[in-house]
Amino acid sequence: MLPLYRPSLTDSYGRQIKDLRISITDRCNFRCVYCMPESGVEWKKKSEILSYEELTYLAEIFVSLGVTKLRVTGGEPLLRRGVINFIRSLASIQGLEDLALTTNAYFLPEYAERLAKSGLKRISISIDSLKPKAFELLTKVNALGRVLEGIDAAQKYNLTPIKINMVVMRHINESEIVDFASFAREKNLIARYIEYMPLDGPGEWSRDLVVSGREIFEKINAVYPLMLLSPNHKSETAKRFGFADGAGGEIGIIAPVTEPFCGACSRIRLTADGQIRTCLFSLSEHNLRDVLRSGASLEQIRQFIINAVLKKEDGHKINKPDFVAPERTMSCIGG
Ligand code: 5AD
Ligand code: SF4
Repeated sequence: MLPLYRPSLTDSYGRQIKDLRISITDRCNFRCVYCMPESGVEWKKKSEILSYEELTYLAEIFVSLGVTKLRVTGGEPLLRRGVINFIRSLASIQGLEDLALTTNAYFLPEYAERLAKSGLKRISISIDSLKPKAFELLTKVNALGRVLEGIDAAQKYNLTPIKINMVVMRHINESEIVDFASFAREKNLIARYIEYMPLDGPGEWSRDLVVSGREIFEKINAVYPLMLLSPNHKSETAKRFGFADGAGGEIGIIAPVTEPFCGACSRIRLTADGQIRTCLFSLSEHNLRDVLRSGASLEQIRQFIINAVLKKEDGHKINKPDFVAPERTMSCIGG
């Protein structure tokens, strides 16, 4: 175990970095419209992808620098062989307080039990439609049934509270906003509505396709009156609501486009090929893989990470005229 190292990770705006998202693969078995192009994606070579040993070592270093929360993402993380053992090694890192995973749930029916036993605490599931045809249009895979089974499996093995993430897109799935809330009430889930961000593979994002958090709130509130809940912690991205009638489940509204929350950001990301991204919308990356593989000492790796964090952007520029979308899509960056 690495002892806690001071100073901990703080960026040049005084934000403390507590939350690291680790993408373990850029591959996915879905092709969600908002995340990855349908064809022409070139996967990273195996040699470019960090091994589990490398990832675990780096995760330990990040935790020694004050990171308390890890989230494993992809692509689709359950596609990578050995993920259960990897989660187990992350779970044993001293000083780690929270360990979560984001998945499309396709493999959850067979993985949920082992994930729960490996020390994973929580799970977030991406699901953007509850109608089989629309689900297939959005993901290019006819798999709604499996995903619903995956949610049940996660519940059965107590990977709770389960968050289901819906990226809301105008004309595409906006008609299902209230259905999602009904689903959350029935199944006692946290339904999280996310504004569509310009991180999509085909580059089809436009402001007209964004349904604002305000509008989402009003649609739900008209059917199920909501009451505001206090944030779980100070860098919470979602506004949380409970149902005023006391029903189970919870609503979270995440509005990065119309109500940016960058001022309280505590996140950085590590891509599957070992690049530190200090913001979802970073236009450049910090090549931690090459530093690691060049035989750098623990101290050198720490300094590299500390310096990368010092260059964290103050926030995204989605609403500014000079906004440039990052080249890498969400599938490579890791949600
Ligand atoms: N806009 C908003 N959210 C996105 N996600 C992926 N791409 C986008 C986008 N363009 C979110 C999805 C998924 C998580 C990994 O990232 O909700 O659940
Ligand atoms: Fe953090 Fe960048 Fe997201 Fe803003 S856009 S919340 S700075 S990751």
